[in-house]
Amino acid sequence: MENLQEIQTRVEAAINAASDLAALDEVRVAALGKKGEVSLIMRTLGGMTPEQRTEFGPKLNALKNQLNEAVATRREILEEQALNARLASEVIDVTLPASPTPTGSIHPVSQVFAEAAVIFGDMGFAVAEGPDIETDFYNFTALNFPPKHPARDMHDTFFFEPGEDGARKLLRTHTSPVQIRTLQAAVQRAEKSGAALEPIRIIAPGRTYRCDSDQTHTPMFHQVEGLVIDRETHMGHLKGCLADFVSAFFETSVKTRFRPHHFPFTEPSAEMDIGYERVGDEIRIGQGDKWMEILGCGMVHPNVLRSVGVDPDIYQGFAFGMGVDRLAMLKYGIPDLRDFFASDQNWLTHYGFSPLSQPNLSTGLSS
Ligand code: PHE
Repeated sequence: MENLQEIQTRVEAAINAASDLAALDEVRVAALGKKGEVSLIMRTLGGMTPEQRTEFGPKLNALKNQLNEAVATRREILEEQALNARLASEVIDVTLPASPTPTGSIHPVSQVFAEAAVIFGDMGFAVAEGPDIETDFYNFTALNFPPKHPARDMHDTFFFEPGEDGARKLLRTHTSPVQIRTLQAAVQRAEKSGAALEPIRIIAPGRTYRCDSDQTHTPMFHQVEGLVIDRETHMGHLKGCLADFVSAFFETSVKTRFRPHHFPFTEPSAEMDIGYERVGDEIRIGQGDKWMEILGCGMVHPNVLRSVGVDPDIYQGFAFGMGVDRLAMLKYGIPDLRDFFASDQNWLTHYGFSPLSQPNLSTGLSS
């Protein structure tokens, strides 16, 4: 019996002396493990007389519980010590530079949209938008396309199944429907306020669709439309505005040339070419003696103005439309149009632009 007192004193001393969790566990196993000192004494209970067992059993149990408690208390202390030691050794150096977080990049098409908005914004243009899914009226009829014009044909236009009214919606084949929507909104505002039609100066960047696919054509592509309507706007304004645009866009002095052309919604119509030269594999925009076509333009056709209730004898103006994908390829030396839409992470990282240095009206292109 006195033996138990001795065991308690000795084992508790060993528990309190354990300097780490592994040592504590050794002490615990030696006393309370399956073959531990206390467990072995427990086994002798079976061979005792009932009287001995009544006396000895509770004492032995109490010893076991006390030792278990002592182990738990010591474990808590040791665990806290271990945690404190770890905290002390794993100091964070807040002066170290942060590890870089990968950020996304701005797609060259979005970049060119932003650049166009800045350059035209400088000239007083606002940005307008319209839906990708259009009606025949906005995409063709209001733009003075004759009823049997080949562009309405299935070969160029993606049509939807006819709706309940029998009319087929379509994916807009150009951004020119935004001209009509902008004019209509301006006419409505004028009617509401009773004032004269306000001058219009907008560009409309957006997605366009044609059933066409090869090395230089994708079924979805991008355009920037422009529309200016006022009382005294003439072809000279059109030429000056677009010449200024290309030089600002290519950030160099660019030669321009206007060739007569035909669009149903402009009269007269023209295509604008820009000068370039080829140096080895490289295309240099600006001077040189070669010409490439980059946009369509013209004075807004009187029938277009009439289709939205604007009097062409009072108001006139010009419109233009250009392919953004090709402008991006030319400016940033991107060889293949199809890569624009491949979502290749490496390509996007290489040709993409920093979201933190997007062009804006106050800083211009070189922000
Ligand atoms: N919408 C024409 C096209 O897609 C471009 C254009 C727009 C031409 C405005 C003249 C005026 O080809």
